[in-house]
Amino acid sequence: MRAIVLLFGLFCALPALAQQAADAVAPEGAGVGVLSVPPMLADSAEAKANGRPVEAGNWMIAAAHPLAVEAGARVLASGGTAADAMVAVQAVLGLVEPQSSGLGGGAFLVWHDGASGEITTLDGRETAPLAATPRLFQDEGGQPLQFFDAVVGGLSVGTPGTPALMAEAHGRWGRAGWPGLFADAIRLAEEGFAVSPRLAGQIAEDATHLSRFADTRDYFLPGGKPLQSGQILRNPDYADTLRRLAEEGVDVFYTGDIAADIVAHVQTAPGNPGVLSEMDLAIYQVKERAAVCTPYRGHEVCGMGPPSSGATTVGQILGLLEPFDLPALGPDSPEAWRLIGDASRLAFADRGRYLADSDYVPVPLKGLLAPNYLRARSELLRGDDALPEVAPGDPEFDHALIRADDRSLELPSTSHISIADTYGNALSMTTTIENGFGSRLMVRGVLLNNELTDFSFVSHEDGHAIANRVEPGKRPRSSMAPTILRRDGQPVLILGSPGGSRIIGYVAKTIIAWVDWGMDAQEAVALPHLVNRFGPYDLEAGAGGLANPLRALGYEVKETDLTSGLHVIAVGERLQGGADPRREGLAYGE
Ligand code: DON
Repeated sequence: MRAIVLLFGLFCALPALAQQAADAVAPEGAGVGVLSVPPMLADSAEAKANGRPVEAGNWMIAAAHPLAVEAGARVLASGGTAADAMVAVQAVLGLVEPQSSGLGGGAFLVWHDGASGEITTLDGRETAPLAATPRLFQDEGGQPLQFFDAVVGGLSVGTPGTPALMAEAHGRWGRAGWPGLFADAIRLAEEGFAVSPRLAGQIAEDATHLSRFADTRDYFLPGGKPLQSGQILRNPDYADTLRRLAEEGVDVFYTGDIAADIVAHVQTAPGNPGVLSEMDLAIYQVKERAAVCTPYRGHEVCGMGPPSSGATTVGQILGLLEPFDLPALGPDSPEAWRLIGDASRLAFADRGRYLADSDYVPVPLKGLLAPNYLRARSELLRGDDALPEVAPGDPEFDHALIRADDRSLELPSTSHISIADTYGNALSMTTTIENGFGSRLMVRGVLLNNELTDFSFVSHEDGHAIANRVEPGKRPRSSMAPTILRRDGQPVLILGSPGGSRIIGYVAKTIIAWVDWGMDAQEAVALPHLVNRFGPYDLEAGAGGLANPLRALGYEVKETDLTSGLHVIAVGERLQGGADPRREGLAYGE
């Protein structure tokens, strides 16, 4: 109800702005309609529509939906920390952007502590069930399943980590009372919120998969018709789940009737049952991991190590580029993008061979990031044309290993939250249920992830194991790259994005745009994407002027939509926020 009143408020006050903002946030397949923006965020919407960053003096938040930003802002304005605000934001995102993240998924969090100056990373990634085997996604003949045959249903569901991560972060760094952090999400779930253009568009596109399971179909396609943009949607089951979480604490999700219900849905999913058990939920643990921090032109780029490939691959790309004068070349130079594209291909070749959950597979992390290794590999970039072929390197390693190259697939959803609070803390968290709407199984108002399809479906090749194969209890390799850049020990840029394995390119580009090309937070986010992972160069509209020059250098160029969801906060004398014009998010601060 309230969302509609707010929508009206904005329409009456700022009709042109509302339309502009809607245009700016409604990318491919996003459906039609106008995004409902609370009055408090009208200036943020205007700044985004006009390509300007948002500025503030004390605290700032940037996230994927205005109602989630509003909830987080309320927490920060009343003295909460970035960890408190994240809990409120995640609870609302699970309602208003359910296709991307929620209690049924997993997340990685990077934290810079204002008091101690320490950087901590928390791994709330989903885990493979104890009953999973390397052949989980293979048919009886050992052939890999078709991607969506694996995704939709119970087989792909890993033990969710997001609720435990919320509790862990709050326990370590929260100041506000836990129950109150769910108040906005519970109210919105009960009273209803206006379905956004992007959500409506994604429901329409995914109607076939969403209709496979009765609970999911009845929620997203009531009476068989896809929800429309602006339609008021209530989720009383989610309100009940949140209320239990708020009042009884996080264990309520991992043991007892909620856990039993999740397991029952997974194990009895029609046509595609999974092997998740109540034991898997009961033993789930958030893991603190050593942060992966790499140097780049006087900055320290800190992020998430394995099981994410994010920080390692971003760090390799930047390390390979450091010897080259990108600042002088600038963003319009084909030569700059040749260097960036081939540095990225080299880093992706290593990623495909070596990166996986380091609790299961020895990962040559130190060797991959060693300055002498990167310097030697960057010599490969000294030519004038696109590299004809790219192969993994031989990083120094104290294990003798022969690995086969990875074969994993990734498709859209996911959300990124960046927060700077008044205590000098910085939080960067990328959160996901993997594919859009995850496994499409919905339990107690919550969509369950399909994160296990981030594993390689093929387990071995020519007798060599693939590092990212399925194993019981293992965490699938991720590309999520929640990042905090620091200079002299202080955070200067907080960022991250959705986008599957393109996340790595989006994050690296944004860092280069900000560090090398002097762009502000909004310009850096909005700069058209050019992403190269495996050879072909993906170019977004706006980067079209570079298509022919890159073809002339030998690249196969594909012009396509690239739906990142970058949320960036630059921390200087003041805070400056940027929100991705390709999605519905906003930055807001005071
Ligand atoms: O962990 C990962 O890398 C993926 N599951 C993230 C999926 C994603 O970003 C989809 N994006 N649009």
